[in-house]
Amino acid sequence: MRRYLVCHLSSACAGLVSEGACRASLPVLVTVTDAATPDVVAGLDALRREVGACTRCPLHETRTQAVSGEGDPGARLMFVGEAPGYHEDKQGRPFVGAAGKTLDELLASIGFAREQVFIANVLKCRPPGNRDPRPDEIAACRPYLEAQVALIRPVVICSLGNFATKLLSGDQSGITKVHGAPQIREVGGHRFHLYPIFHPAAALYTPAMLETLRADMYRLPQLLTEPLPQPAAGPASEDDSRPPVDGHADPAGRAPRSAGRTEAPPSAGGPVGRDASVAAVFPNAGAPTAVGAVSAEEDQLGLF
Ligand code: URA
Repeated sequence: MRRYLVCHLSSACAGLVSEGACRASLPVLVTVTDAATPDVVAGLDALRREVGACTRCPLHETRTQAVSGEGDPGARLMFVGEAPGYHEDKQGRPFVGAAGKTLDELLASIGFAREQVFIANVLKCRPPGNRDPRPDEIAACRPYLEAQVALIRPVVICSLGNFATKLLSGDQSGITKVHGAPQIREVGGHRFHLYPIFHPAAALYTPAMLETLRADMYRLPQLLTEPLPQPAAGPASEDDSRPPVDGHADPAGRAPRSAGRTEAPPSAGGPVGRDASVAAVFPNAGAPTAVGAVSAEEDQLGLF
């Protein structure tokens, strides 16, 4: 079953007129989730078990438990944070601490509940003392995130902060520069809108940041309705299981699995569909990551 949300976007939020020039409210029907196939549900379950037993990097020695991610397997909107913190490590769930409360509030501000989206992290295990993820840890963990993207096939991935943004964009531009501006990206043969925003924890350190986060969040419902350009070539996928919205062509512009990559993909995986087995979405375990060290001018927490 697909779930919809009627969002009232101001014209300014919808990008029709300049900010503040018009307060008119435009109702927009946004598809929030689709029914996930049993294959996707089973794939995510298998992935969760694999992540729970993972020993690919030294973080497994210090974790209480791994945090695979959670949410609706049919979500059209996915959030990717940095790594579990103290509370996430204890509870085995992403974003359950202070930053999670802010994320919940931001979601509520656009009419979403966290159960309607999927939430994951770049790293599945907590770095000791919440230090920054290291390139070798990101490289070891990356196939798990790619497998989640390939299974869930979200229309929009909202990257929270520098680490998720750099990994998913394959670009070293910092979040201060790229926040609030959608990009088209592809992972595991799946094309999506990448929408970078500041990490919710940034608002804990800099309260004024909450307004920036809110403003960026308001653009998310509209982005969920925007079509993705089709890849240049490639036959249509036979088992592309997302239904078209409202009788129109799928606004997600689902990329055929054999699609050529024209958008600087960061993916380490090959073309993968929603019915792929977990093994099939781990072709490149240990592949080198595109993410390097955070540049000197960026803050230590990777938030800016
Ligand atoms: N910060 C993150 O990046 N992820 C979490 O799960 C919690 C806090």
